[in-house]
Amino acid sequence: MEIIIKNDYDEICSEASQIIFQEWQKKNNIVLGLATGRTPLGVYAKLIDSFKKGELDFSETRAFSLDEYIGLKKDHPQSFAYFMNKNLYHQINIKKENIHGLQGLPEDIDEHCRQYETLIKSVGGIDVQILGIGSNGHIGFNEPSSSLASRTRAKTLTEETIESNRQFFKGEEGIPCYCLTMGIGTILEAKTILLLAFGENKAEAVVNSVEGPVTATVPASALQLHPDVKIILDEDAASLLTRKDYYRWVYSNKKGVERYAKKL
Ligand code: GLP
Repeated sequence: MEIIIKNDYDEICSEASQIIFQEWQKKNNIVLGLATGRTPLGVYAKLIDSFKKGELDFSETRAFSLDEYIGLKKDHPQSFAYFMNKNLYHQINIKKENIHGLQGLPEDIDEHCRQYETLIKSVGGIDVQILGIGSNGHIGFNEPSSSLASRTRAKTLTEETIESNRQFFKGEEGIPCYCLTMGIGTILEAKTILLLAFGENKAEAVVNSVEGPVTATVPASALQLHPDVKIILDEDAASLLTRKDYYRWVYSNKKGVERYAKKL
């Protein structure tokens, strides 16, 4: 794992969008796995900006959403499909047929989830997966106790997650308590994973995920098993890490080790 500690949210987003840009330069038909939530919004804004400046072209890009609420139509303002359209897809030149998401109202949930997995495999897998983290350590909607080998499936949200979502469903009768999400096993198959977190309320989930044991109780701790994961944090989200100085040291000496590795 590479732990990258930045000064603020804007720097987190610059780092993540730069990594996506570099991967896109290597492979224009990059396959992205994309998360919703407040955390990746700044990254999407930077990608849109690069597209508008003519630096990035998404015409061959494919995108897969990480999760979706069960019971919401695609055009519901709180659906993740709506979120991704509004905050990214409608502002770049990605082709409609290259946008993939889990449906909120599938006819057959199990079949829909199986097809999603098959589709991801059929395009060669996800190249870069963007993740946020829940304050209980969830990734996607893989709540604590999710199997570390889980695949795309339906899940019941924890009361804690439902509560934190309440603010977004003001004036509505039912807040979704079920969802579809890529599994932890699915996420771990992405070639590169970028987990982003900012703010103090993520600090405990971050330290448990990065420096704690690998456990289903903290789903993001499964990322310790992945060979290419970057955890990009601001000072607040990194505040409980015990090896901060070491992570900074590694990051600031990265160029040197890369040069050396290339010579070998
Ligand atoms: C939801 C999403 C996750 C997201 C998490 C954190 O549960 N399913 O993908 O990472 O919220 O959201 P935020 O980035 O708003 O803190």
